[in-house]
Amino acid sequence: MSEELFNSIENIQKHISFVSHEIRNNISICDMYSQILKRKLELSGNLDSSLNDAIDCIQQSLQFISINLTDLKAINSLSLKNFNLSKTLENCVEMSKVFASEKDISFKLDVADEIYMYSDEAKLSSCVINIIKNAIEAIEFKGYVSLSLSAVDNIAIIKIANNGSPISENSKNSLFEYGYTTKTCGSGFGLCLTKKYLESQHAQLKLVKSDEKETIFEIDIPLGV
Ligand SMILES: Nc1ncnc2c1ncn2[C@@H]1O[C@H](COP(=O)(O)OP(=O)(O)OP(=O)(O)O)[C@@H](O)[C@H]1O
Ligand SMILES: [Mg+2]
Repeated sequence: MSEELFNSIENIQKHISFVSHEIRNNISICDMYSQILKRKLELSGNLDSSLNDAIDCIQQSLQFISINLTDLKAINSLSLKNFNLSKTLENCVEMSKVFASEKDISFKLDVADEIYMYSDEAKLSSCVINIIKNAIEAIEFKGYVSLSLSAVDNIAIIKIANNGSPISENSKNSLFEYGYTTKTCGSGFGLCLTKKYLESQHAQLKLVKSDEKETIFEIDIPLGV
């Protein structure tokens, strides 16, 4: 490796460390203030369940941001552990509801109880949130988003559906390409990243169908335990 290239890699690494450091400081501030807020609301008797859920979602999101920052240091770093997939998926739906705050969307959950898996919980959650977010964005004003979980032969099957605008025949071929988007503010990274990560975990992501009635995406992922 040339000295110039080595120096520039070293500079990029330093730059990443500095930016990560600053982001982490801000994560800590948000985390601490959300904890203080929760405690004060609790003490004053004003912590209702929706406020409690909202603060939990903020804290869970901050944790995911923090894990994503670790990824800047090492590509494909995984944090594997045993976790309750049913509970994690319920959390993903709860966290994603914020994307629907200006629409009239009902959320349906059909999640088999207590399915455990061994994987990277934060990364899998990001994948599921990407797909739910797309499902919400496909609905203009009113509709439903559903998520179901079942397990067959040590494979978890997660289906995420919505009844928004269908995916055009043309788009169906490009959905998972890097940078492919039909949205004015989209980056086109969501499905590409999601598919890439899932495939690295021997999982599959597929579009089951998309027509006027319903769009369904399916993740098939080994439970690995
Ligand atoms: N559930 C869905 N219903 C309709 N179209 C969808 C759905 N999911 C994905 N798409 C289409 O696939 C494209 C790519 O999705 P992807 O998540 O990769 O990027 P994006 O949502 O456009 O941007 P972002 O990077 O912000 O997620 C979308 O722009 C949209 O056209
Ligand atoms: Mg998206």
